[in-house]
Amino acid sequence: MNLYFLEENIIYEGILLTRSLNGSINAAAMGYMKIDDSHIVIKPYINTKTYKNLTETKRCTLCIIDDVKLITNIVLKRLDIDSVVEIVSDFQDPIILGSRAALMLSVESEELIGEWVEIKCKVDNVLIRESPNPYSRVKSAIIEMLIYYTKIKSYVESNMIHEALSLINIVKHNFNIVKKTSFGTVYEDIAENILNEVLKVVK
Ligand SMILES: Cc1cc2nc3c(=O)[nH]c(=O)nc-3n(C[C@H](O)[C@H](O)[C@H](O)COP(=O)(O)O)c2cc1C
Repeated sequence: MNLYFLEENIIYEGILLTRSLNGSINAAAMGYMKIDDSHIVIKPYINTKTYKNLTETKRCTLCIIDDVKLITNIVLKRLDIDSVVEIVSDFQDPIILGSRAALMLSVESEELIGEWVEIKCKVDNVLIRESPNPYSRVKSAIIEMLIYYTKIKSYVESNMIHEALSLINIVKHNFNIVKKTSFGTVYEDIAENILNEVLKVVK
């Protein structure tokens, strides 16, 4: 499958559509990760409607969007899902209106991990309409780390040590986001380098 727009082993955030047995659509913001060109992993909580639907139907549609207003309205359940989906020819299931890309997935295997279920999905079909815009927290967290590195450096140069130290936790918080969402990738190395530089500055 042509999943060129997703890097492997990075967690992206998208909207996952599932259906209940009576056909009603559930939309949930969900992290997803490409593990190879035919498989995506998702980790829904056991107590979600998403997981219930997946257990019953074994399929879902992952919509690739970065429209934060729409994502917010979906998460806050402030809209009628039927009014924000569209039917696209050659694609069996509805997708979120305006999705740049969508993946039709079927459940291949699942493993219970505490309150989550790690579900390996097979990619059955891919729809690509215009440059897909998958959203991941990795790059924004790295940029946050860099911004705070420059702030901390300038505070230390001005002898404002207390102010510099008060920002360290923000850098660490973003470092943890990078670790969590890009474990074992080059992004983790980049974040480690930035964290080391920050710690050197405040030594
Ligand atoms: C950006 C984002 C990513 C999320 N990722 C996940 C996830 O990977 N797994 C999960 O169970 N919930 C995740 N959530 C929370 C679900 O969207 C939320 O619990 C939702 O209500 C799912 O429940 P439902 O299936 O019952 O509708 C995420 C929320 C946001 C805003």
